[in-house]
Amino acid sequence: MPDRVVQAPWLQHLLEAIYRGQWQLLQWLHRLGLVGTHDGQAAWPWGRRLSGENLLIDLGQARALLISLGALLFVVLLLLAAWRWRRLRWPAGISALLALWATPWPAAHVLLVPAQASSFHQPTVPWSDQAIQAGAQYYAQHCVQCHGVRGDGHGPLAAQQRVWPPNFAGPLLWQRGDGDLFAHVRHGMHDRQGQPTMPGFAQQLSVPETWQLLHYLRALAAGQVLRATGEWAQAVALPDMQLRCSASNKTSVRDWQGQHLRWVVGAVQEVLPDPRVVTIWLPADGHNAPQQLPPAVDCLVTSQQSARQVLGILLGQERTSDAPALGNVQLLADRHGWLRARNGAGSSAWSEDDLICRTQPSAALEGASAALAEDGLGRLLRLMDATPVRFVKGGRLH
Ligand code: HEC
Repeated sequence: MPDRVVQAPWLQHLLEAIYRGQWQLLQWLHRLGLVGTHDGQAAWPWGRRLSGENLLIDLGQARALLISLGALLFVVLLLLAAWRWRRLRWPAGISALLALWATPWPAAHVLLVPAQASSFHQPTVPWSDQAIQAGAQYYAQHCVQCHGVRGDGHGPLAAQQRVWPPNFAGPLLWQRGDGDLFAHVRHGMHDRQGQPTMPGFAQQLSVPETWQLLHYLRALAAGQVLRATGEWAQAVALPDMQLRCSASNKTSVRDWQGQHLRWVVGAVQEVLPDPRVVTIWLPADGHNAPQQLPPAVDCLVTSQQSARQVLGILLGQERTSDAPALGNVQLLADRHGWLRARNGAGSSAWSEDDLICRTQPSAALEGASAALAEDGLGRLLRLMDATPVRFVKGGRLH
């Protein structure tokens, strides 16, 4: 079950309002020329920002914030009434003071966290096989000596650092917003005494290269989490890939948004055509796909080399010269593009056990089951639709 799932709708709305509100404010300030640009996007002008991610950990504070907002609204209404009707002045004024006094204000240190100029920056590079592959190269060049091949913080230089580099195979990269990670990689990090702990790479990496690197880090982390636990605690989207489709002029995975996608890797003979899913085929290494695609296949991946490498990273089976090639595997993505299930056995054998990204405990899924004669794939697709992914990355709902 994803760590950062938010079940309560009020909390979802509150987090969304906090993020959107600040982001919109920044865009307006930028349009009015009141804030400048940093690394290509509007620069957050303050040293602090409101933190949705802390409210997620401390529900009491989230409730306090909601009550405070209600109280503020009440006070504004009272003041308006006092302004409109003079005789209400005293009672309205006293009620407003009482409301302000009785309100459980949230703690400032929970609600406000340090911010960087790029805290609200968003990736300018799409989540694609080519971006992740490029990021892998930069990682090997600049980062691996401290962070290690698996991103676990066990690179050869790790022990010489002031603090130990973190293990990426956990929630860390999803707790941070894109913009904060971007700032940490470009401008480095410091400890409380102001001493550098992690070097900055703004001189060595361009802005797009930094985003590619961050895409790679999340892909690497996802693969290591899956390898260790058999599940994705954080939701992972199917990366964009270049396609050739038989009955459509679509040319990339992104063009298929809104559909259930079945990503078939390796042999395709056993796979049956299925109108419920769009089937995207990545043939085994060294296998040339025929010009006429097999009947079960809707699209062929044409960016095959990067797609294979990225699949290995996402599944935690990074290929080295002595590791075996990837076997046959199929992955299902839901209508929003999140990868939800994996199966090594063939299209007819899907079952709930293949879910690798669950959004609710299995017991809760039972309620959604229809006892009709439904095959495993049908049940999985229905479960995916009934339990959409709702998780928070850096305080922002996805
Ligand atoms: C000289 C060693 C070293 C190198 C090289 C290095 N890092 Fe780090 N990195 C660290 C240390 C140490 C930390 C922990 C810093 C801290 O918590 O104060 C860290 C932390 C991080 C974090 C966590 C940031 C956060 O928000 O907590 C990320 C992400 C990261 N590094 C990415 C990279 C990337 C990408 C590269 C390559 C471009 C890289 N690092 C190169 C040592 C290094």
